[in-house]
Amino acid sequence: MTATPIHANAAETSLLPPPPFVKGLPLIGNLLDFYRDRIGFLRKAQKEHGNTFAIQLGPRKIAVLLEPDDLEAVFMKNDLTLSVGQAYKFVGTMFSPDYLYMADFEEYQEQRKVLLHAFKSEKLGNYLQAMQRELKDWMQDLGEEGEFDVVPEMSKLALHIAARAFIGEDFRMALNDQFLPLFKDLSDGAELVFPLNWPLPHLIRCKAARVKLGKMVKEVFDAREGKEDAPYDFLQYLSEARYRDDQPVPEEIRINMVLGITWGGYETTTGTMSWALIHLLQNPDFLRKTVKEIDQVLTSGDHKELDTWRSLQHLLMAFWESERLEPVSDVLMRYNVQAYETGGYRIPEGWYTIVSPSITQRLPSLYTHPNAFDPSRYLDNRKEHKRHRFSQLAFGGGLHKCPGMNFAHTEMQVVIGSLLREYELELIDPEPQKQKLAGIQRPGECRVRYRKRTPEKLLADKTPNKAASACPFHSHGS
Ligand code: HEM
Repeated sequence: MTATPIHANAAETSLLPPPPFVKGLPLIGNLLDFYRDRIGFLRKAQKEHGNTFAIQLGPRKIAVLLEPDDLEAVFMKNDLTLSVGQAYKFVGTMFSPDYLYMADFEEYQEQRKVLLHAFKSEKLGNYLQAMQRELKDWMQDLGEEGEFDVVPEMSKLALHIAARAFIGEDFRMALNDQFLPLFKDLSDGAELVFPLNWPLPHLIRCKAARVKLGKMVKEVFDAREGKEDAPYDFLQYLSEARYRDDQPVPEEIRINMVLGITWGGYETTTGTMSWALIHLLQNPDFLRKTVKEIDQVLTSGDHKELDTWRSLQHLLMAFWESERLEPVSDVLMRYNVQAYETGGYRIPEGWYTIVSPSITQRLPSLYTHPNAFDPSRYLDNRKEHKRHRFSQLAFGGGLHKCPGMNFAHTEMQVVIGSLLREYELELIDPEPQKQKLAGIQRPGECRVRYRKRTPEKLLADKTPNKAASACPFHSHGS
């Protein structure tokens, strides 16, 4: 069924029915089920009602849209109809009511332009050094052999890379034990269920952390002022970037952007990178092909060229597949400022709309054997990801699509590519459980045993790699 974006007045007077409600308890509706296991609950509701239904979380009525055709209505409507800011109000508490999509639509577009420019393809090479430097230090600490737990290690790496690439080398080197707990307190403010004006301890801690972190970032900006030869990082880019009327970006917006990007890029990359490594280690056949390609591409040298990393095509296919199976943002939300119609239903004004990458990305109408890890589905002869414009949702879609996708994939290529080049790895915990978290998803405990690869193995196959020249993602949403 095709989404029919229509004029608000027409939707107000539309005779179409709203989607059917999933049965729930008086007053709280489906709050408990959703809170306990939202994807399990939505899957159960999907079995009963199909791909479009409504749920109730306390006072909030929510349309759940799982059919890709209906996602046009969600992703292509601007915030004057479907608002991101009003759905993720916690972002206003964590940063400021003027930050990105919390601001009015015109201001949002101005800030998004600044962000898109900072992370466009040509600029990514500037962040490569920060990624490689962190990785090198981390691998030095690993030594010859041992064990590590995937999530804490990926989290440490992702935070250090974010600190270095976004806030700068000085900040990264001065990074002390204070930053991580403060950042965790900030992240804990991502509250989707309870009202943000309740005096809940995690919300109080979040606000206090934001004040302290803001001061820390302001000090870095102040220290940079007038400094020549400053290294390229996001902070430096913002100091030089132009805003509306060719003016510098206001200080408070710069501080919010640095913290917002660090937050947006750190938690998501931690979970995504962890799943990707685990999925690769769980699938030895594909792992073998991936390592072979890595050995062919990452020969001796420093690999300072972005194109070298980009040509690790098997790795990229593994990332897409891992993100399809375990998207860390498992539900995306919008607030319906205006009513709209889609798929034969009218979604009223004042409701919310939920999209679930976890469920849509496993629809059998989009993917063959959707529960299997099969990265070859992205090859030219299958191209399953091209079956629909909205079949890959791990980075969202349309107007609010993640501006950090290419940064995240480059980071993951550097981290996982280098790790597989240098070490043989095996899972000690072959089937890690998913952590049931309120916000960004990640795997639970998953230990890996590692041992340095011998030089003979590294040099085993150096024949040129034909596959690396034809990337199946060349034109895919980047
Ligand atoms: C693997 C890592 C990442 C994943 C899975 C991810 C996922 C997402 C998703 C799903 C959205 C859309 C949310 C929605 O529509 O409701 C989003 C938006 C966003 N992401 Fe990412 N992200 C990742 C990394 C990054 C990085 C590295 C950055 C910064 C460089 C970043 C910055 C942002 C920003 C600023 C937005 C808001 C865009 C807007 O509304 O205009 N993300 N991300």
